[in-house]
Formats: sequence, structure tokens, C-alpha cells
Amino acid sequence: MRKPLVAGNWKMHGSRQAAKTLLESIKQGAVGISDIDIAVFPSFVHLQQAQELLAKTSITWGAQNLYVGESGAFTGEVSGPMLVDYGCQYVLIGHSERRHVFKEDLALVAAKLKSACDVKLKPVLCLGETLEQRKSDQTEQIIAEQLESAIDTVGIKSLQNMVLAYEPVWAIGTGLTATPEQAQAVHSYIRKLLAKQEVALANTMRILYGGSVKADNAAGLFAMPDIDGALVGGASLEAKSFLGICEAAVKEFKEGLLS
Ligand code: 13P
Repeated sequence: MRKPLVAGNWKMHGSRQAAKTLLESIKQGAVGISDIDIAVFPSFVHLQQAQELLAKTSITWGAQNLYVGESGAFTGEVSGPMLVDYGCQYVLIGHSERRHVFKEDLALVAAKLKSACDVKLKPVLCLGETLEQRKSDQTEQIIAEQLESAIDTVGIKSLQNMVLAYEPVWAIGTGLTATPEQAQAVHSYIRKLLAKQEVALANTMRILYGGSVKADNAAGLFAMPDIDGALVGGASLEAKSFLGICEAAVKEFKEGLLS
């Protein structure tokens, strides 16, 4: 059985003080939660606080982005080794806001993925279609293109160290969550794509769902056989709602172990 991961993507939110309060509250609230993995993705400037406050806890942290390579004349960018220095275990790659707002194409996403793998950061590779693509029945094609471009660049074996996140663009920050059945259909498709290349990897790969996940809709999503946790945006900015999602994952995981 795959161990669920609940991850909070804080995006470009929070002051230094707000980040401290949120980290402390999550740390306190997560004491005793050991059945699932929990990770937070603060902005770059709050990573040091995450490192200071979360060291010696089971909560891990990561960055929301990186740039290709180890160092160089790339004003304003942050490299993989810099993130490793701040104790990051994970990095988000190919988030829809990076793909759509910042126009990162398949080649750049793949290059970033490779840079993350090169320094042993665990990429959380985000995949997802826009509303127009869904309406024109292109969801599977888009997901396949995004996943295959990644596999072609880093090789199927590198995916062992990754997490995938299905985040339909139309469900992000809109309050429009995919239904558990809609999400399950895409998760199961992703797993089938992986299984074509390596069955063992397909069985162990954690595939998170992201897009308006809240404490009150998480249980329905986690009950689906191919949904292994969540990548949470808005609801991760408040400890109570984020921990509520973590608790839903714990409950589902324990019930799964019993069944
Ligand atoms: P929301 O949960 O705010 O919809 O954001 C989802 C997301 O983009 C997580 O990476």
C-alpha cells in the first residue's frame, strides 16, 4: 500500500511572521501523525524558517520552483544545490502556474526535472489540463504529453524518486474541485501510462490530487484507489484546514489497511 503524502503549496503568500506562525501550528498539530507523510512548500524566502522550525520533526519541506543547472548568471533564479543547502527534500516542477503564467514549455519543465534529479531533490511533477482542453476531450493527450516528455528526459528509473500530482488547471484556486470520479479516472490513466513502461513503478508511484482540496472534500478524494494524497494550495495556508486534510488522509489510510 502506498503511504499518502499531504503537501501544502503556499504559493506567493505570507509574511515572515505569518510563515513562522503557520509552521509552528502545523508542527504542533502534526505531533502524533505518523501514518502519512506531510510536506510544506513555502516561498524561497521562508525556507530557512522551515529548516529551523521543522528540523527533527517528521514534516519535510521543499521549494516551489528551481532553475536549471547548479549556478550561473541567471539573475533572480534559485538552483537545486541552493535548495539542498536549506534542507529541502522536494521541489515542485511543472506546476500549472509555472506552465501557464510563466509560459514554461515541456522542454524547460523537463530540464528543471533533470536538474532536480541531479541533486537528488525529489520532484513533485505536476500534470494537468486546462478547461478548454478538457472540453475538447484532450485531457488524456495532454497528460500523456507532459508525462512522456518528463520520462524521455530523465528516464523511467528516475521516476522512482518522484511524486506525481494531477492538478486540473480549471480546479486550481477556483473552488471547482474535480469530483472524486473525475480525478480517479485521470489518476488511473496516469498509472496505466506508467505501467506500460514499468509495472512495479506504476504500483508504487504516489499520485497526488490538487485543485481546491479542502478538509470537507478530502475524504471523498482519498477514498479513490489511485489517489495517494493531495497537493493543497489555499487550504494549506491555515493550519486547521491543512491538518484537517492530513487527518482525512490518516483515516482513509487506516481504513485501507483494515480492508
Ligand atoms: P488550490 O488548493 O488553492 O486550488 O491550489 C491547488 C494548487 O495549485 C496546489 O499546488
